[in-house]
Amino acid sequence: MKTQALSFILFCLAVTAASATEVTYSQQIKPLVAARCVACHGADAPEYPAFKKEKDAWLAKGIGPRMDSYAHLIYYTGWPDTGALMRRLDDGAGKDDKKPGNMYQHLGDNEAERQANLALFKGWVGNWSHKKFDALTKDDLAGIKVLY
Ligand code: HEC
Repeated sequence: MKTQALSFILFCLAVTAASATEVTYSQQIKPLVAARCVACHGADAPEYPAFKKEKDAWLAKGIGPRMDSYAHLIYYTGWPDTGALMRRLDDGAGKDDKKPGNMYQHLGDNEAERQANLALFKGWVGNWSHKKFDALTKDDLAGIKVLY
């Protein structure tokens, strides 16, 4: 009996620890995007297809496609703009040329902050795949968590 109670307590502790490390949109990513991204990807920014249609005009204003909601942001993870978020935010450490994605700079004011926020995005996305849609497997897709 005692052993059973002990294993139950250990089980509960393990579950609590696991959920404590989970990164969700509502808890961590939303405020991070609000602080670091919406100046250029906010409510006034266009939907992605509209951005692509008049790209030069938007770029002249320094505005990118809209990413200020859960639905908008996950568009850049699994499908249809597969891997865009991962390629752009990556620090380049795992690449031969070590070149970071061009949105990495916006993750923080210093390297420590950028690394900490990159870790949050990585935890949120799950499978940090840089693949484009044609190379993506069903397993790759299933590994993309993006919890709300
Ligand atoms: C100073 C303005 C600015 C900030 C801040 C900024 N971005 Fe961007 N972003 C842009 C512009 C402009 C583009 C379009 C040009 C390009 O593709 O590089 C873009 C493109 C992107 C793309 C690629 C979309 C595509 O075409 O596939 C992603 C993903 C992205 N940004 C994510 C982010 C995230 C996440 C943040 C916050 C950590 C962020 N950006 C912060 C201006 C910004």
